Amino acid sequence: MAYENIIVEKREHVALIRLNRPKALNALNSALMRELGDALVKADADEDVGAIVITGSEKAFAAGADIKEMRPKSFVDVYREDFITSEWEAVTRVRKPVIAAVAGYALGGGCELAMMCDFILAADTAKFGQPEINLGVMPGAGGTQRLTRFVGKSTAMEMNLTGRFMDAAEAERKGLVSRIVPADELVEEAVATASKIADKAPYAVMATKEAVNRAYETTLAEGVRFERRMFHALFATEDQKEGMDAFVEKRTAQFRGQ
Ligand code: HXC
Repeated sequence: MAYENIIVEKREHVALIRLNRPKALNALNSALMRELGDALVKADADEDVGAIVITGSEKAFAAGADIKEMRPKSFVDVYREDFITSEWEAVTRVRKPVIAAVAGYALGGGCELAMMCDFILAADTAKFGQPEINLGVMPGAGGTQRLTRFVGKSTAMEMNLTGRFMDAAEAERKGLVSRIVPADELVEEAVATASKIADKAPYAVMATKEAVNRAYETTLAEGVRFERRMFHALFATEDQKEGMDAFVEKRTAQFRGQ
């Protein structure tokens, strides 16, 4: 598939996906989401890729779903298409870690896309919001659910009901983003972080991601039981021997994904 709305590069073992509709502040139309889904499936299947970064431009990660594309749709259209489930949630099906590197606006579907990633690194210019209420609608890709889990009910309710934006400092303070970096270092820092992950034992990485995600889906006792079984399973890998041998021999581990 030839991409017109995203740019994909490989930096060593990291797939870097840039959303690229600058004139529309990376508004997420169906063509862009189709391309993003395709790029994510390919990066997930590529044995040479250990982690993925999704970013936008300096001005916008993404200013939301494309309002001009959504505007004429009827209830029957959106219900029949199940707008937006299948393509939009491609990122949640990726088994390798996905980092959202957010500068500028991450609004509506843009904020929701960032929250579907495994963690968010924010530039000091980042602004998050769910302004759908101003359009006579409401979030449709997790804004009422994921944001509430990240920042708690009061803030999520206020943001969803008023459409106010949250700056990077508040997003860090309230746990929406893992940390803030200067805007001009954002992409390099995200790629360096992804690269650090890509150097680790791939099955340990995948199992860790799966286990952390369980924390949002189940009870504490079940989650801990799941974690323990995954932990046990990793003793079936050669990388466990390599990691522990390397520690004892005071050298850097060379993980091989076995
Ligand atoms: C389509 C968009 C867009 C969007 C911006 N543009 N956001 N087009 N869909 N979501 C376009 C503008 O129409 C404009 O095009 C160009 O990008 C530049 O935007 P401006 O508004 O001129 O820029 P600025 O004044 O800097 O304001 C930036 C902004 C504002 C605050 C981000 O653009 C804005 O409020 N955008 C909409 C944000 C929003 O409501 N998002 C939620 C969408 S609903 P022209 O052609 O005029 O130059 C949603 C639902 C998700 O996401 C549900 C599930 C998927």
